[in-house]
Amino acid sequence: MKRALVLLCAALLLLAAAKKAPRFNASLPTVGTRFGTLPLGKGRAQTEAACYACHSADLLLQQRLTEKQWTAAVEKMIRWGAEVKDADKPVVIAYLAKNFGPENKFVPRKTRPIGY
Ligand code: HEC
Repeated sequence: MKRALVLLCAALLLLAAAKKAPRFNASLPTVGTRFGTLPLGKGRAQTEAACYACHSADLLLQQRLTEKQWTAAVEKMIRWGAEVKDADKPVVIAYLAKNFGPENKFVPRKTRPIGY
């Protein structure tokens, strides 16, 4: 009985959620689709080794950070668990700053709303 009630509530919640579904173009890719790869250059291999444990290239491709901001971002990622050898840090930061600085011309791709 209790189980049936829980199932009924879940079904009602699903129905309510379905009604509020936003309109979107169903041919758009889902969030999390991998679009790009990191550009060739000195530091690419170290950057992939340091960052791909948690991100795809796409998260990096869309950034527009100065060297100072990249330094802070990399330090933050290390605090969050990224494994970057001390010896690799300067080359990773230089690579990110060179390729994904304020002049970055990346154009974001449209995706479906999260969860659809
Ligand atoms: C241990 C997992 C992990 C690794 C490895 C990692 N990150 Fe992150 N990163 C996260 C999480 C969690 C977030 C916050 C959620 C999100 O935005 O996806 C994040 C967010 C970001 C963001 C978005 C802005 C921000 O600060 O929240 C950038 C830029 C970023 N990471 C860069 C990097 C770079 C560069 C590397 C490699 C040096 C890296 N990350 C490695 C976990 C990681």
